[in-house]
Amino acid sequence: MHQSEKKRQAALAALEYIEDNTQLGVGTGSTVNYFIDALPDYRSKICSVASSSEASTKRLQKLGFEVSSLGDTGELDLYVDGADEANKHFHLIKGGGGALTREKVVAAYSRKFICIIDDTKLVGTLGAFPLPVEVIPMARAYIAKKFIKLRGQPIYREGFKTDNGNHILDIYNLNIINPVEMEDRINRIPGVVTVGIFAHRGADIILMADNKQVHTLRK
Ligand code: A5P
Repeated sequence: MHQSEKKRQAALAALEYIEDNTQLGVGTGSTVNYFIDALPDYRSKICSVASSSEASTKRLQKLGFEVSSLGDTGELDLYVDGADEANKHFHLIKGGGGALTREKVVAAYSRKFICIIDDTKLVGTLGAFPLPVEVIPMARAYIAKKFIKLRGQPIYREGFKTDNGNHILDIYNLNIINPVEMEDRINRIPGVVTVGIFAHRGADIILMADNKQVHTLRK
């Protein structure tokens, strides 16, 4: 099965978690786009939708959804989003699409986080996928040097500005043995806005599609 079809299957499986009166959070990326496109059939069950990026907001609005701000909704019942990598502890790398900061906020504000992936993204150790880190522009050079000391190879994502007006460094060659500790350590570097390790608040459920079916992984 093609990877895009696996993404679609994982996304469709997440629709079943929408219950009556759901305050829904929607993530960003090609997997979530399949979820968004199927949402109109569930409109009657959704009482509000919040989004983690301008791109997802636009997509939702095109389908006639009014997108609420987190200040208006309060805590969300369900957050559905993809990931770039996941491990068996439900720690994630996110931010390949650059929306990591808002994704982390929406994940933190949600009672249940369902992560939808295809099986190529489940890994033993996080870090083969370059770790996205959102930084304020004036701190970029300083932070890049810090990552070189951590034996990572930081690459500036040229020509890309986040929804918050910041820059992204993609850090290659990190072997993230202890994601919780690494998340803390990177968060302590001045000028870092968000690191794409989602370990403190990882996923609650992973829906992972392989060639045959969608597997439901629970903690
Ligand atoms: C967006 O910033 C990311 O966190 C995405 O959730 C992640 O990159 C997954 O994207 P795809 O669904 O496009 O693979």
